[in-house]
Parts: sequence; C-alpha cells; structure tokens
Amino acid sequence: MADNSRTSPPAQWWRDAVIYQVYLRSFADGNGDGVGDLAGLRQRLPHLAELGVDAIWLNPWYPSPMADAGYDVADHRDIEPTFGTLAEAEKFVEEAHAAGIRVVIDLVPNHSSTEHTWFVDALAGGPGCAARELFWFRPGRGPGGELPPNGWQSRFGGPAWTRVTERDGTPGEWYLHLYSPQQPDLNWTNPAVRAEFEDILRFWLDRDVDGFRIDVADGLVKADGLPEVAAEGGPLPYSDQDGVHEIYRSWRRIADGYGGRRVLVGELWLPDSERFARYLRPDELHSAFNFDFLCCAWDSAALRGVIDATLAAHAPVGAAPTWVLSNHDVTRHVTRYGRADTSFDFGNRQHGAPTDRPLGTRRARAALLLTMALPGGAYVYQGEELGLWEVEDLPDELRQDPVWVRSGHTDRGRDGCRVPVPWGGAEPPFEFSPADATAPPWLPQPADWHANTTSAQAADPTSMLALYRAALRLRRAEPGLGDGDGELRWSASAADGVLAFDRPPGLRCVVNLSPAPIPLPANESVLLASAPLAGDRLPPDTAAWLRVR
Ligand code: GLC
Repeated sequence: MADNSRTSPPAQWWRDAVIYQVYLRSFADGNGDGVGDLAGLRQRLPHLAELGVDAIWLNPWYPSPMADAGYDVADHRDIEPTFGTLAEAEKFVEEAHAAGIRVVIDLVPNHSSTEHTWFVDALAGGPGCAARELFWFRPGRGPGGELPPNGWQSRFGGPAWTRVTERDGTPGEWYLHLYSPQQPDLNWTNPAVRAEFEDILRFWLDRDVDGFRIDVADGLVKADGLPEVAAEGGPLPYSDQDGVHEIYRSWRRIADGYGGRRVLVGELWLPDSERFARYLRPDELHSAFNFDFLCCAWDSAALRGVIDATLAAHAPVGAAPTWVLSNHDVTRHVTRYGRADTSFDFGNRQHGAPTDRPLGTRRARAALLLTMALPGGAYVYQGEELGLWEVEDLPDELRQDPVWVRSGHTDRGRDGCRVPVPWGGAEPPFEFSPADATAPPWLPQPADWHANTTSAQAADPTSMLALYRAALRLRRAEPGLGDGDGELRWSASAADGVLAFDRPPGLRCVVNLSPAPIPLPANESVLLASAPLAGDRLPPDTAAWLRVR
C-alpha cells in the first residue's frame, strides 16, 4: 500500500503522489458570491478524500487585483478576501492534513502585481530610486525614449514593456512584464528580491504547507544586458538561464530544513529535456510538470516516444517523472482528444474545431488508465474526474483571461477550462454556490452539465468519477503502480497502435489506440477497464489493467 500518511516514512511521498489541482475560484463557492473560496473548498474536502488523492495543489490564493486570475500577487503573505482569510487558510491546511491530504500552494516569483507595495513605491520614487531596482525599469530607446528598451514580446501578446508616467506628468521609464502589464517582472539580480522570497517560503512552511508549485520557474533570471531574442526558435534571453539554478538550490536548503517532506514543483515549459532535467538534480526541485505528455497527440508511437524520453531524461538525476493531461492553462483533454488534431499547442488552441465529444471522453477514460499506470506522480485537474469538456461557447464579453484582449482578440484564451465545477442538481449553478447565492457563477456553466455533476456520477458505476475512484484506489493498492520499482517494461508482442507495458511485479497496462479491437491474452485477468470489453477483446480507444500471472 502506498504511503498516504503525512508523518510516517517513506518520506518521498511526492514520487508517486496523485496531486489534485484546485482552481479555487471555480471549485466551490461557500459564501454565495459566485466565486469559489476557501469555505467552499473546506466543505468539499470529503469529495477529494473519497476520490483518493494524496495532495492538493492550489492556484494562487493571495490578495490580487486579478488581472491574471491571481497570478498578479499584491501581497505574498495573506489571502485574497474574495477567497477568505489567513486564519481560514490555516484551518484548511489542518483539515486537509487530518483527511490525509497534503497541500501544495502556488508561488509566483517571476513577477508581482502593479498593486504590490514594491511597485507602488517604485512608481512614486521615480527614476533611480531603490524600489525601481526591484523590477526592470529602463529608459526607452529613440530620441524621446518613446521606443521600448528591447523587442521582447509578452507571452500574452504585445510588447513586454510598458512606459510609465512619472510624477511630474511626463512620459518616463519603461518596465518589463513577460505577462500582462499588471505583472511587472522582479529583478532577481537584486539580493533584496532573493531575501524576500526566502522569507515568503518560510512564512508558508511555518504554516505547515507541504510545498510549492513554482510559477514560470524557468523565467526568473534574465540574460545580462537584456539582449534581443536571437532567432525564431533559438534560446530565449528570459528563459532557462543558468543562474536560476542557484536560486532553487537555496530554496531546497530551506525546504529540507523542514524535515524533508516539503516539496518544490516547477512549472517549466522547456523544449530541451536535458535542460529540463537539470532543474531536478538532487539539490534543486523535487519534481516538475511533464508538459510533453500533456501536449502529445493521442497516437501510440508519439505517446511511446514521449514516455521513453521522459523516463530517459529523469533517470540520470534520480527524479520521479510526473504525468499531466490538463491544467488551468490548456484546453481540457476530453475536447482535445475528440478533435482531428489531438495535440495541444499554445500557438493554436484550435478553439471551436469540430469535436467528437463521446470519442474524446472515451479516450480520456483510456488516458486515465495509461497515466495512472506510468511510473512516478500524476496530476488531476479539477473537473477532469467529472469528464468536463472545454466550454467553447462562452460569450466573448464574459471572458476574463487577459490573453483574449492582449492577443488583439485572436486567442480566446483559457476561460473555457476554468468554468465552475458542477456538484449536483439539474441546472446551473449545479450546487457550485449555496441555494441562497446572491450572484451567478463568475463564468456560466453549460446547461448539459447536469449529467456531469458529482452527485449524478457518484451513483453511476459506469461514470467517469467511478473510474477515477477505482483507478486511484487500485493504484494505491498495487505494489507495481506509482513509483513501484520505477520499472516499465514494454511488451514485445504488442500489435501496431497498441501500448502495452508491465509494471512488475504483476500488472500490465494495455491501451488500444488502433481502430480495431485486439485480443487480450486468456491467462490474464482484467482488474479494471476504461470501457466494457467486447468478449475477450479490447475495443478501440480503450485501456485495461491486467493481472499478469
Ligand atoms: C503560469 C500560470 C498561468 C499564468 C502565468 C503567469 O504559466 O500557470 O496561469 O498566467 O504563469 O503567471
């Protein structure tokens, strides 16, 4: 049985944890204002305990003007009032721990908010003041400084620089923001920034959180002199700079000082798997999200390639891989897998592409059994256990994601995967908010989610929720699953389009991505299947866990 107790060894719980991502504003609304909060999350903890997850990762819960859904942090040591209070957050950590669930919080070190006191001081202090040294303020180019200091582009679209108006009313310096203009990048060459974040880490570790998901973990250090981006596809001067590793070494020392159970998880979108693995050296981060797996098409050769490359990249540094299908930034995988092109790419979200949702759902069920059978840890994004799909028909005027505006209304952004969770009842808000709520959910839910509510699915043994519960239960009970001995043995006899591998000592996972049913060996019993078998055959887009004798 895998360890699910917070106190007993083995201490390396993260190596095979199932971590459930709670997108707080869309999880459960306790106070009826249409926005999810800590009160709602605390009420719904039993759902997560019953699902069988080992930990929760919470998106940012800090005070924020919400220019980027909380990734614009105004105060790193408090809780956004819409979500609750610091006292409630402490209670929540305690209650989660009592339920056997660890808590990982989001840390946003690359940038802060224009409402953070540091930035307010930087604006007020004017050019040359100490507070401007905490950010990247630079004079503009051109005779009147009217051109940005360099040509870097924001990841949300448009230039990565905004010009400020100085106190005397004249156009002044520019500041860097790799994301929205409300998210000024912090200057990590400044020792004050380093000291501040070390203190923030301790602040939350002292409040017993089990770790941090580090936002934009590759971005903190910028190349000296802020040089131009050399060439399309070349290395970026604001990503994966060597100096960033020293920061994580210092954080690792801090985390380790808390008894070895606190973890650092990196959000790293990097093209090079060897560079990626450098972050997972034994004295740096404990783990990182595997986005290659998330982006991969529903194709047996492509998936096998990503799985092999992942295992090969992690092995030399001794880190456990993770397996991720969805999160709050990407198109939900029920939708992705129902399209002609099943891969994911930020450059083209394929918003509105024709989608065969039953097919996508069928594949999502099979993908769950694949994911949960692979060696390492796994992430579940809230709502995937209910089979939720990307909501693509939100009215444009309700969109909140800054990507929509910053892209000049060309990219509809990430709201479609952030729609509030349906819990019960026949119509919106599907018990997301209490019966006496004063406002509708902050994004409208599709009327046909009545079949996807937790209540509707809990009673149905064929539901997505039932499959998640069964898979997570078996994953804990089977010694070969999770980290196991880390071994994955591909079956030599698998037919074309079939992924088949053994997890010693006794489990085989078979995923049929071919268009025809495939026979299952007669001497193997089926522990769990993502869809009913056709006699002794595994239908297309179906996966099964088998007992190998
Ligand atoms: C990360 C977050 C994303 C956010 C961005 C800027 O990629 O996952 O939601 O917008 O960082 O903080």
